[in-house]
Amino acid sequence: MTTPIDYVHGYSAHETRRLGDQADTLAELLHSGTAYPAGSKVLEVGCGVGAQTVHLVTASPQAHFTAVDIAARSLAQARARVTAYAPDARVSWQQANLFDLPFPDAEFDHVFVCFVLEHLATPRHALTALRRVLRPGGTLTVIEGDHGSTFFHPDSAYAHAAVDCQVQLQSTAGGNALIGRQLHPLVTGAGYTDVVVRPRTVYADRSRPALVNGFTRNTFIAMIESVREDALAAGLMTPSDWDRGIRDLHRTATGDGTFHYTFFKAVAVNPGALDPGDASD
Ligand SMILES: C[S@@+](CC[C@H](N)C(=O)[O-])C[C@H]1O[C@@H](n2cnc3c(N)ncnc32)[C@H](O)[C@@H]1O
Repeated sequence: MTTPIDYVHGYSAHETRRLGDQADTLAELLHSGTAYPAGSKVLEVGCGVGAQTVHLVTASPQAHFTAVDIAARSLAQARARVTAYAPDARVSWQQANLFDLPFPDAEFDHVFVCFVLEHLATPRHALTALRRVLRPGGTLTVIEGDHGSTFFHPDSAYAHAAVDCQVQLQSTAGGNALIGRQLHPLVTGAGYTDVVVRPRTVYADRSRPALVNGFTRNTFIAMIESVREDALAAGLMTPSDWDRGIRDLHRTATGDGTFHYTFFKAVAVNPGALDPGDASD
């Protein structure tokens, strides 16, 4: 198995569940507007355990998907998930590094990338590399979050500090948990045209219990909780301040608590073949 990059969330069963909860809870919010024509060839890069793949194939049952991930284990889980969920889906699976894809030039009509750029040290380079396999006139869709968009009630400096630990640890691992706000310059800088970025906001309060559970608790707080050991080992917070921060985050998911987070979705067009200077970051 290829060893994956230093991926801040890891590849545990807990993370598999979290990615599934995240994708299922946010499917309508993130996937609305994304449907590919019958017969079109779509590349999903960094498919992970297939949490988004099931929604892609549901929205575009007649398209042909190729799903790629660098981690063989995730890819096997993705295949099992999609087979169970949509046995007739047209998906090919490929273990590969998105910086060095084993496909001919201009092979795909569309490329879809969700929650991958945030883990890469050179996201613009990644977007440029994807242009090679995308036909001229083909579209790119990228979805990323931005932890700086997190605010909640009751407010808590301890809770914000716990979120900041995740931001710092992801940065130390070479990623960027604040990447959502940079999508327009990144996609434009990689040479795409017709770039449109729109925010997709999650807001959860007691009137939306499915979001409180599926997003606030099982997606966002679960993600922050998962970095406890690393945050404490790095001395970013004391154990008691950390525990207070997590308690305060959970408080936003009870009673009169509220929680807000914004994702960003970019859609753009590949104008044509790469120029020699396009590949550098
Ligand atoms: C946060 S997960 C997102 C998975 C999925 N897109 C989703 O939204 O549930 C990021 C995925 O990107 C993959 N990945 C990271 N770097 C990669 C690379 N260079 N080439 C291919 N996949 C990569 C990781 O293995 C991981 O499965």
